[in-house]
Amino acid sequence: MADIKFFTEEQIPLEMHKVRIVQKLNLPPVERRLEAITEAGNNTFLLKNRDIFLDMLTDSGVNAMSDRQLAAMLVADDSYAGSETFTRLEEKIRQLFGTRYFLPAHQGRACENIIAQILVSPGSVVPMNYHFTTTGAHICLNGGQIEELLIDAGLNVNSNHPFKGNMDIDKLCSCIGKYGADNIAFVRMEAGTNLIGGQPFSLENLAEVKKVCDEHGLILVLDASLLADNLYFIKIREKRCQNLSIKEIARKLASMCDIIYFSGRKLGCARGGGICTNDKALYEKMRELVPLYEGFLTYGGMSVREMEAMAVGFEETMDENVIGQAPRFIAYMTEELLNHGIPVVTPPGGLGCHINALEFVDHIPQHEYPAGALAVALYIAGGIRGMERGTISEQRNPDGTEPLANMELLRLALPRRVFTLSQIKYTIDRLVWLYQNRHLIEGLSFTEEPKIMRFFFGRLKPVSPWQKKLVAKFRQDFGASL
Ligand code: F0G
Repeated sequence: MADIKFFTEEQIPLEMHKVRIVQKLNLPPVERRLEAITEAGNNTFLLKNRDIFLDMLTDSGVNAMSDRQLAAMLVADDSYAGSETFTRLEEKIRQLFGTRYFLPAHQGRACENIIAQILVSPGSVVPMNYHFTTTGAHICLNGGQIEELLIDAGLNVNSNHPFKGNMDIDKLCSCIGKYGADNIAFVRMEAGTNLIGGQPFSLENLAEVKKVCDEHGLILVLDASLLADNLYFIKIREKRCQNLSIKEIARKLASMCDIIYFSGRKLGCARGGGICTNDKALYEKMRELVPLYEGFLTYGGMSVREMEAMAVGFEETMDENVIGQAPRFIAYMTEELLNHGIPVVTPPGGLGCHINALEFVDHIPQHEYPAGALAVALYIAGGIRGMERGTISEQRNPDGTEPLANMELLRLALPRRVFTLSQIKYTIDRLVWLYQNRHLIEGLSFTEEPKIMRFFFGRLKPVSPWQKKLVAKFRQDFGASL
């Protein structure tokens, strides 16, 4: 018999579910795609769903729900105050993190608003492994400043460091020395560090951070929005954790933090958020803000149906057979792209596959937004919507100058249970085509630039008619095909 190669589930990522409800997709022809992205001001956030084939913008609020989640939504207990649904969610979170107090919020950034309002004051400093866009904005709005204390390997696009999201402990100690513990509002660790490519921190690193916080009496805050992938990476990459269950790792991690907050749009595969703590004094301070900004304490801006779905979503996320599925798809995509010579962030992280635009389109100067231009080009090439995670996602300095981002990434998020392997293969194929034609891609410039969060609703234009040339080349190579 000829040599037959058999594959493990690491090599052929498996969907641990079957599809029972589907939504029809639309792939508009390339000429319409050019029109649509022009109407959207060359900002993928402003595209309409009807013009999108594969939506890899984010995993936020768009993970597919399970039959059990939908069933749970039907038994939701609706009331302004005292709903049983809230009690069930609270209990699930207590089991997961071992924390006594839970405050609901409508999404992750609402938690950031509450935490920043009670802990940040003008002049205070928040050391963190790496910021997330909304986190940074809330800290700055309250007069604070961020110190990025990620290890150097974290910003190295291609490193073999298994935990690129680790905090540099020496940098943390010097930061405390420089500003004084009294001026530090809190120390923040982000699980599955979003802006550097969904990169995890290790349990060991968190323990070291915790030790320093304890020595200086500092509050340790965990952003657990992307915790699921981080837990999986701890289990497979950190030797001493290999025999622990995912739930045990979650408990160990949670036990070191004073405040844990999350976006339930990611962690719970539903829509909402919340803050957990064991500290009564912190809880009472934060509690005052919940009815002001979110809603009563037993819903916090969430619908009871979403809360029910989230409780089930937590349980499903922590399932040992399910937790690795998204990271395995991401690893598959990353490795296939590497095999074609396409520059991607390595090692593969969580959340999605991250293309290194600085290398992909190394002829585009950073002030012409290489990652933004690549996002536009990929949409034109395949109807695939990714997200710019580079200079456009940064905010201008108070003096009006523009900081260039440390990384220029095109993020292709893989929401959980949404895409099939053939859709991933199509995406790889279109990226390979684009890479071969990368010389056709040129930069963008702003035509409308909002002051805050410009990446959400800013509008841009191409610096030359390069998009028309890309469409012409597409027609030449793909004939009449869409
Ligand atoms: N923290 C992290 C690490 C996040 O990734 C997000 C959201 C938030 C906080 C805010 O949570 O959206 O519920 O208000 N990230 C989304 C994304 C938006 O696409 O990466 P939210």
